[in-house]
Amino acid sequence: MTIRLGVNIDHVATIRKARGEKHPEPYITAKKALEYGADSITIHLREDRRHINDNDLKLISSIKSIPLNLEMASNSEMLKIAIKHKPDFVCIVPEKRNEVTTEGGLNLKRYKNKLKSTINTLNKYKIRTSLFINPTISNVIISKSLNAKCIELHTGKISNQIKKNKKFANHLKKIKNCAKLAKSLGLEVHVGHGIDYKTAKILSNVKEIEEFNIGHFIIGESIIFGLKKTISRFKKILK
Ligand code: PXP
Repeated sequence: MTIRLGVNIDHVATIRKARGEKHPEPYITAKKALEYGADSITIHLREDRRHINDNDLKLISSIKSIPLNLEMASNSEMLKIAIKHKPDFVCIVPEKRNEVTTEGGLNLKRYKNKLKSTINTLNKYKIRTSLFINPTISNVIISKSLNAKCIELHTGKISNQIKKNKKFANHLKKIKNCAKLAKSLGLEVHVGHGIDYKTAKILSNVKEIEEFNIGHFIIGESIIFGLKKTISRFKKILK
């Protein structure tokens, strides 16, 4: 099985917002990421539109060659938007207005009914839906009962441990157990949050994981390693 790589381009929109102008454009980044080997593109349309905006979603979802994964909160506004733009995939995430990034997985127990209804609607529109969950066995079982097609396991904790060179075996075990159970229940297993090269390498050995969704680290590395090309282009112009 080849593992798929989904690239989250929210931070491109964050950089654009720093100037309030058009550059850098998320839809061009999306096209380039696919040209360079990404398997899908993720954007998170947040309630506060702090980075990706409605126009980005409209534009990117209209380009049929872009396999699009829309991250969204489970509420009626977002559901309407998803039905209108029909991304290929939806990942339902919890959303808090003041968080810097998605801090944890969904509270499935608390929002069971609402989530089930959202998933059933998305299923009707043939939009593959995943639930962003903390890696616990009960979350996997509930995800199945809510008719989700996939789960995305929140890898924030294991990623942090690995970055700090601290013990991570416990976190890895939880992810492995969840991945195994999910696969046996017919759920596709994805992972995301805080993943860098080292964490990707470790998690790539968990054979049930089919998709990695990575944003911050890819955009950060791209800035560092894209400098060479951009600066030499300026040097040529300024000669
Ligand atoms: N997957 C989900 C569901 C997320 O919310 C995020 C963060 O937006 C990511 C993956 C990507 O996380 P990171 O930017 O830390 O790689």
